[in-house]
Amino acid sequence: MTGVTGIPVITLDGGGGVGKSTLGCRLAERFGFHLLVSGALYRLVGLGLRERGIAFTDAAAINAFAAGLEVRFISADDGAGVECGGRRVDAEIAGEDAAEAASLAARAPAVRAALLASQRAFRRPPGLVADGRDMGTVVFPDAALKVFLTASAEERARRRYKQLRERGFCVSLDALTRELEERDRRDASRDIAPLRAADDAVVLDTTRQTLAETLLAIAALAAERNIKA
Ligand code: C5P
Repeated sequence: MTGVTGIPVITLDGGGGVGKSTLGCRLAERFGFHLLVSGALYRLVGLGLRERGIAFTDAAAINAFAAGLEVRFISADDGAGVECGGRRVDAEIAGEDAAEAASLAARAPAVRAALLASQRAFRRPPGLVADGRDMGTVVFPDAALKVFLTASAEERARRRYKQLRERGFCVSLDALTRELEERDRRDASRDIAPLRAADDAVVLDTTRQTLAETLLAIAALAAERNIKA
């Protein structure tokens, strides 16, 4: 099903470090679809509200801030890039500090409401790959294919560690494991849009899979649903 708009969406949801953004980027490339990395929006909003001292309950200020964000996602073979206001912001939103700011802001109903329309606006022809926590449950409930990715906590921490080290961050595996667990606990237990698989999502355990294997599995699921590149 491609939903009321007729524009197919593939959703990738799951906890931190599971590989959503890399997979999302590769899938968007493969299908020639647009890309939405919703975590990056939450990271930008989390950091922006903190910098400006905007309270999570101040809906008017949050809406104004979110409406002013001009974000573009770039999918390339070597990974996704994020532009905000015409400037690359990958480095400033990549770290665990930004992830923590995002996770705290993401519990607030006013923040989630402010981002709903902007996330849906990424759905443009010929299609969209959207990754996050609530893409299949809340933002695109009529998605053509919903995938919920899991992996063991150790494996997710290892992947995230590798990714951050490659980007030049100095992190410890122990601290990262604790931070990821705390963030997942918070994301899964919040009242609004908690991290969970949609009832009609396909759950893929990627613990023992390479990126290429997971990509192939998702492409096969897309083919079964007649989603075309
Ligand atoms: O995906 P990423 O790790 O960048 O997300 C950072 C944080 O943003 C998550 O821990 C979560 O709290 C929040 N988030 C969310 N809903 C989304 C995407 C991210 O609540 N769709």
